[in-house]
Amino acid sequence: MAQIREFPLPTPSINPSYGITAMNEEDRHHLVPKLRRIVKTAKQLNKLEAANIYKGAALLFRENLAPQELLTLDWVSKSHEWMYKDVWQWAGQIRNRDLDMPISASLGYMVRQEIKDMLDDALTQIEYSSYPEEEICVRLHHRMVKTHCFINGNGRHSRIFVNKLAGSIGLADDTFDWGQNLIRSKTEARAKELYIESLRIADDTGDYEPLIKVALGDLS
Ligand SMILES: Nc1ncnc2c1ncn2[C@@H]1O[C@H](COP(=O)(O)OP(=O)(O)O)[C@@H](O)[C@H]1O
Ligand SMILES: [Mg+2]
Repeated sequence: MAQIREFPLPTPSINPSYGITAMNEEDRHHLVPKLRRIVKTAKQLNKLEAANIYKGAALLFRENLAPQELLTLDWVSKSHEWMYKDVWQWAGQIRNRDLDMPISASLGYMVRQEIKDMLDDALTQIEYSSYPEEEICVRLHHRMVKTHCFINGNGRHSRIFVNKLAGSIGLADDTFDWGQNLIRSKTEARAKELYIESLRIADDTGDYEPLIKVALGDLS
C-alpha cells in the first residue's frame, strides 16, 4: 500500500501538513465517480486533495463564526465536507463504523456523541477560561484526532478546524504552525515523529505540553 505525503499549503494558518492518504484499490471506490478512472498515482491524488483542502479551508476562513456557532457537529461535518468533497465520497460523513487501524479510536456508534461532548467541553473551557486559549485548542485537536471523527482526513481537518477556532477566540490565525517550524530545523520525518509522540504523551499521561510546543512551533 503506497503511503503518500501531501503538499504543504502556502498559507501557514491553514497549512494542514502531514496528511497521509493510503491509496489502494478499495480506496478507489471511495473516490468521487468522475475521478475513479482519472487518478492513477498517489502524486495525482496528493495534488487533488491539496487543492480541495485549500479551497475548503479558504471557505471556512471566510465565515464569521463565534465559538458557539463553530463548535457544533454541523460545522465539524461541513468543514470536513468542504475540504474533501471534490475528491472523496466520504467527505463530511461522521464515522459510524469501527476502524481497522492501530489507534485507540472510539467505536463507530459512539463517535457522534463523543464529538458533541468534546465540543461542549471546549466551549465550557472557553467560557470559564479553564486553560490558556492555546491549550484549549490543542486539547480539542487531540480529542478530535483520537476519536477519528471521519474515516480519513482527520489530522488535516482537525488542524484547520482548530486554527479556525483559534481565530474565533481572539488568537492570531497563524498561532499554530503544527510543526512547520520543526520541519525547517529537523527532517520532516523527525518533525512528524515528534508530533505523533506528543499526541501519544497526551494520550498516556494527560500532559499536553509537548503537543502545545509542537503545535506552536516552539523549539526551546
Ligand atoms: N497514536 C496516535 N494518537 C493520537 N492521534 C494519532 C495517532 N497517530 C495518528 N494520529 C492522528 O491521526 C492523524 C491521521 O489520521 P487520518 O484520518 O489519516 O488524517 P489525515 O488523512 O489528515 O492524515 C494524524 O495526523 C494524527 O493527528
Ligand atoms: Mg489519512
